[in-house]
Amino acid sequence: MKKIGVVGGGQLGQMLALAGIPLGLEFIFLEPSADACAARLGRQIAAEYDDIEGLERLAVETDLVTFEFENFPVQAARHLATLTDLAPGVRALDVAQDRLNEKALFRELDIPVADFAAIDSQDDLDKAVTRLGLPAVLKTRRLGYDGKGQKVLRTRADAEGAFEELGAVPLILESFVPFNRELSLIAVRGRDGECRFYPVAENIHINGILHLSRPRLHDFMQEQAQTHARRVLESLDYVGALGFEFFQVDDYLLANEIAPRVHNTGHWTIEGAVTSQFENHLRAVLGLPLGATAALAHAAMVNFIGEMPAIEPVLHLPGARWHDYHKDPRPGRKVGHVTLLSDSPRRLEQQIAQVEALMR
Ligand SMILES: Nc1ncnc2c1ncn2[C@@H]1O[C@H](COP(=O)(O)OP(=O)(O)OP(=O)(O)O)[C@@H](O)[C@H]1O
Ligand SMILES: [Mg+2]
Repeated sequence: MKKIGVVGGGQLGQMLALAGIPLGLEFIFLEPSADACAARLGRQIAAEYDDIEGLERLAVETDLVTFEFENFPVQAARHLATLTDLAPGVRALDVAQDRLNEKALFRELDIPVADFAAIDSQDDLDKAVTRLGLPAVLKTRRLGYDGKGQKVLRTRADAEGAFEELGAVPLILESFVPFNRELSLIAVRGRDGECRFYPVAENIHINGILHLSRPRLHDFMQEQAQTHARRVLESLDYVGALGFEFFQVDDYLLANEIAPRVHNTGHWTIEGAVTSQFENHLRAVLGLPLGATAALAHAAMVNFIGEMPAIEPVLHLPGARWHDYHKDPRPGRKVGHVTLLSDSPRRLEQQIAQVEALMR
């Protein structure tokens, strides 16, 4: 029986283990928090992500290590990679942790991005606002998630003191993209270099947090998304699943960001695709054949943010599949999701509206 080490023990770890147990795998999570939701599906090494002893134990007690958490410190990852097989590699982590590195890689690979500028002072910000124009989005280069560490600048007054406001840390200013849709692509690359792609998902965010994700079968943007993702996977010699977020403007895509791990917009694949993103990630890192990525039905995933709704009315909906992350309710926190499946796009839309009504 193979033992998989996972850095991080949140809901992504929980879903990785749920996919991996039938593959004959055992899981050990490196996770400091006492109420980690993945811990009941494996063993937990309760230590910080950069704790040398914890990392060494993880390496010794498992056959290979992956991560479900992209802010795993690169120094720690580098050390871990000298002790065991770490997939995806350190390079992917290093690029994805810093929005500036990410944008630089996209440019190098001829993947279009919104205009941007590195900001290390209020003076840099004032100059960049003049150069890029407004509206624009100011973001911390590191550690942002769910729209945290961001400010939309609409007027010059919004820029005043904004460098301090975001913590006087390295920032990036991006032109605001007047997108038609937000799309994401879950891509998987195996150890032999084979790439597979899921249908693109169309995503709706509310207050910077993902609310709804719907796979779009045979979307006219599929090829473009795959071409961009393949370049990134190959240039990073990537192994595993990767989430790639795009803005669609008319008939082209601008890259927003990548996540070197399984991704929230791929949760629909658990019930909605032949092979889930979680299983394919595990197959990839283990060097096993990748599974088919085709959709089985029209699907949608709705995140539960802050608290879970009542279970019964949701389960009354045909094709509803419930996912509880066993997390304490807290405003803005992802605590679970529901996947809705239907053979009729019209009925699916009705079910989405019903779930949304139950969440209010
Ligand atoms: N340049 C932009 N133009 C327009 N909207 C933007 C821009 N940047 C971000 N947004 C909006 O804010 C959302 C969150 O931004 P982004 O993906 O950069 O942050 P994040 O904190 O890493 O989010 P997540 O963790 O959900 O991926 C985007 O999905 C999009 O809706
Ligand atoms: Mg994002």
